[in-house]
Amino acid sequence: MQAMTEQLKADLERLRQTASARLTDASDAASVDELRSTLLGRNGELTTLLKQLGDVPVAERPSIGQLANAVRGEVETAISRRLDELRGADLDRRLADESIDMSAPGRSVRVGHLHPLMMVERDLREIFHAFGFEIYEGPEIETEAMNFEALNIPPDHPARDLWDTLYVAEPGSVEQGLPRPAEDGTILRTHTSPVQVRAMLDLRPPIRIITPGRCFRYEAVDASHNFEFFQVEGLVVDRSTSLADLKGMLEQFARAMYGDGTRTRFRPGYYPFTEPSVAFDVNCLVCGGSGCPACSRTGWMTILGAGMVHPHVLRAGNIDPDEHQGYAFGMGLDRMTVLRYGIPDLRLLMGADLRFLEQFPMGA
Ligand code: PHE
Repeated sequence: MQAMTEQLKADLERLRQTASARLTDASDAASVDELRSTLLGRNGELTTLLKQLGDVPVAERPSIGQLANAVRGEVETAISRRLDELRGADLDRRLADESIDMSAPGRSVRVGHLHPLMMVERDLREIFHAFGFEIYEGPEIETEAMNFEALNIPPDHPARDLWDTLYVAEPGSVEQGLPRPAEDGTILRTHTSPVQVRAMLDLRPPIRIITPGRCFRYEAVDASHNFEFFQVEGLVVDRSTSLADLKGMLEQFARAMYGDGTRTRFRPGYYPFTEPSVAFDVNCLVCGGSGCPACSRTGWMTILGAGMVHPHVLRAGNIDPDEHQGYAFGMGLDRMTVLRYGIPDLRLLMGADLRFLEQFPMGA
């Protein structure tokens, strides 16, 4: 028995002493890992030695156990030291091999810019922000009820022809080869006006919002018409709001947008959701008002439609027309953008052609 104890002690000592030499031989991290499991792993040398502990007299076991723990601790420390050493050597080698030329010019970052439509939209947001308007957005996919009925345009009313509509198909009908409009009346909004009603249902007066957003119409596409375009809607609802307020506000807006000398005029217009309705013109931005092809020689350009919100629309928005009145206006962002930059064809705006888009650096 005594011999057994001595033998085990000697084996443990040998493990302790040879470990460091074997580690020095391991020349990379993978071999160190391998050595770790050879020495300390579940079937490793230390474990194998400790299996003989059962043959050692009970009284001797604690001292052998202590020795084994000490050996394990030392070997583990030696392993991590060796790993550090190898990593350091690796770094030294890379530092020696690679050179960095600190004086070489950096790679320049390509700075992008906003789409021209968004630059004009941003100017509009800023101007109306200064007038106390908030941004309120609505969905591009609408219901006929919101896009038409709530705006005082009943089904089969001839005014629907003014807003040629793109319908969302009834699920399955396309696959059957018989596409038809969705039964629940889902359409792509033809203007931002339905957001007037959404805002009235959601907010309480006083309301002062603008609604920029994408709209869709079933249009024959040409240089001045697209099936996809942007509008900016405005809505004010308050006690005793009048047409004079609308007029004053729009005149100020035109000066902020196009300069102090801008001349403006109102003409009668027609929209089912405003009464009375007006068209708002500014002097031609191309010729200044003397008459040119861009303004059909009239000297004026219509930039938006507007009017006092129709009582039916206020009611659809859950607002009592005897207590509150409002005005609304809607303008085409695409038209304002082509006018500002002298862009000859509206389709360029949606073309995603970088040769076109790169001509509009910020601040221009
Ligand atoms: N929604 C109208 C259009 O698309 C514009 C408009 C908005 C007119 C608000 C009056 C009031 O043409």
